[in-house]
Amino acid sequence: MALTLDPFFNPRSVAVVGASADPKKLGHAVVYNIVTHGFPGDVYPINPKAEEIMGRRCYPSVLAVPGEVDLAVIVVPSQAVLAVVEECGQKGVGGIIVITAGFREVGPQGLAMERDLLATVRRYGMRMIGPNCLGIIDTFVPLQASFALGMPKQGGIAFMSQSGALCTSILDMALADGIGFSRFVSLGNKADLNEIDFLQAWGDDPNSRVITAYLEGIADGARFIEVARQVSKRKPVIAVKSGTTQAGSRAVSSHTGTLAGSERAYEAAFLQAGVLRATSVQDLFDMAVAFARQPLPATDAVAVVTNAGGPGIMATDALERAGLRLATLTAETQAKLREGLPPAASVLNPVDVLGDAMADRYALAINAVADDPNVGAILVILTPQIMTQIQETAAAVTAVAKRSGKPILTAFMGKQTIAAGERILVEHGLPNYPVPERAVNALAAMVRQKRWQERPVPKIERFEVDREAVAEVLRRVRADGRLTIGDAEARTIQAAYGIPFPKSVLAKTPDQAAAAAEEIGFPVVLKIASPDILHKTDIGGVKLNLQTADQVRDAFDLMVYRAQRYQPTAEIWGCLVQQQVRGGKEVLLGMNRDPQFGPLLVFGLGGIYVEALKDVTFRVAPIDREQAREMLSEIRSYSLLKGVRGEPPSDLDAIVDVMLRLSQLVTDFPEIVELDINPLMVFERGKGALGIDMRLVLK
Ligand code: COA
Repeated sequence: MALTLDPFFNPRSVAVVGASADPKKLGHAVVYNIVTHGFPGDVYPINPKAEEIMGRRCYPSVLAVPGEVDLAVIVVPSQAVLAVVEECGQKGVGGIIVITAGFREVGPQGLAMERDLLATVRRYGMRMIGPNCLGIIDTFVPLQASFALGMPKQGGIAFMSQSGALCTSILDMALADGIGFSRFVSLGNKADLNEIDFLQAWGDDPNSRVITAYLEGIADGARFIEVARQVSKRKPVIAVKSGTTQAGSRAVSSHTGTLAGSERAYEAAFLQAGVLRATSVQDLFDMAVAFARQPLPATDAVAVVTNAGGPGIMATDALERAGLRLATLTAETQAKLREGLPPAASVLNPVDVLGDAMADRYALAINAVADDPNVGAILVILTPQIMTQIQETAAAVTAVAKRSGKPILTAFMGKQTIAAGERILVEHGLPNYPVPERAVNALAAMVRQKRWQERPVPKIERFEVDREAVAEVLRRVRADGRLTIGDAEARTIQAAYGIPFPKSVLAKTPDQAAAAAEEIGFPVVLKIASPDILHKTDIGGVKLNLQTADQVRDAFDLMVYRAQRYQPTAEIWGCLVQQQVRGGKEVLLGMNRDPQFGPLLVFGLGGIYVEALKDVTFRVAPIDREQAREMLSEIRSYSLLKGVRGEPPSDLDAIVDVMLRLSQLVTDFPEIVELDINPLMVFERGKGALGIDMRLVLK
């Protein structure tokens, strides 16, 4: 169903309930903003005592308004909100913005009030922003229905924020820096409309070229990924998610009462949803201003034009760190540069036009690199010397930007002297950064966005598996009142989903064990088999390297004897005879079900260093083959798997295969909340992998 937010972003009339003639009150500020910032429709202040506010006639209630009311902004005290909303429903209001605070965020009583509020909103088929929010702005309507100060310029950035107060600081900054917005929404407590709704709606808004968000929690992780994945294919979506570190998470719960998902889950989910993650508000707007006015780069090859060597080197370092490339300029470009620039200039990339460059040298160099087919994006760096023509250079940059079709970002470095040039740049939609590193960050985001848009939609494979066999194991385990699964039951699950494991036979007697060992081939491993003994090694319940049938028989007797002595009540099934696996590399595969985003797959280097090195990477299941391959290459020890110093490469395809089967297993069975295959022993290419030990935990 298409979500229409027309009452908010295309209203014909707005009522302000709780409007006040007193300029110190919030109810006055909202009317003031709506009226002074030029809302073209009807404005109805609602106040039982006043005759008129800001020259607009007042009505005692929305029900008394003669015409239709599309949008109502509510600023009455919290106890009065419910009755007002009821009247809005009766009046046929389409959307309401509840600015009033004192709901969910103040405790159980507030939460109960918020529930009643939502029930009323739903009953009348209205939509609601808030409660506990700052309001909204749409620069195109124009509508300034908030109690923030001022009205930003029109621009391509749509912004939503879970913190109302942050909105006002951002607006203030935007006013100073000339950053333009299309829409601005303070989400408040998100009782009805939340970030997913705005994401979806703004995906279709032609005025919003980039969607940005400050989020503290996400309402529905799975839906967020689904919606964001579609929208981010059409336009960039950038988010700052706070409260992801542990200390931060506690702050979030006490702030708006949202339960924050874990940092790793957010990272994986944002990545898979194509959401660009900003580390700070500054980072967010560094990216957003670039997206708002500049085209996406066709490639990751960047040309740098600078009048200063040092910043050129810093830019180069930053490009490399960000995974971008310095473009290799064509011979033709180099010739053009050599001809037009002084002999001391560098005609290789970074192009150094030298410290005494005036605007004409910049113009020549920027035109030359812009015409170079090897160049995907351009970074222009300027430091202000006494002869530097800052405004003329800015004009030269804007002239190239207009015709080139390639993104141009600038780092006019300084503050006082460069300000006049910066104004020209910003006016023409060229984002200027105080240091090259920040420009490079923005460029890197643009390249990521370009790749994301070109990336095919994930194709989730389905393997032929024995789903019923797993269901049967899970039923049995539940019936026994157990929650953990290991050993033979885990191997049944591995077998059902085609996850290979070493040959193993459960032997009830020493002779059976010896026969099994002959069958499997020496050496073998013997393990005590008991549902009651969790830590086998602690009681000598694992013996490696058994070379003969006699050794197997002796080990069997000793193991069972010891087990009975240390844990007399334990039920003992016998011993497991297992193929002794050698010569592979140990990796870890697993899953942890995240409360927000669902099954979070983990892959990393396994064995005893797992905890110490934490060399792991995550994705939300289900994943496709390409995502599985990406996981492999993301860990730091990937080179070990590829083989170092003449070592043969490991069987990467076998790991990918197990990952995909695991992804299917945890998608098929939501009741599995944790799963570990540690280690998965991986052999040389072509020789496969074996899941030595698998453990599962059920809900
Ligand atoms: N219908 C119409 N008007 C009503 C009304 C009703 N049912 N009930 C009260 N009013 C009028 C009042 O008479 C008053 O007008 P007046 O100035 O002419 O007397 C006006 O509405 C406001 O009521 P008042 O009692 O003066 O409240 P207030 O302005 O002190 O506080 C809020 C109201 C909404 C500002 C306050 O409750 C609040 O929530 N503040 C925090 C807001 C916030 O921080 N939000 C989150 C931002 S991120």
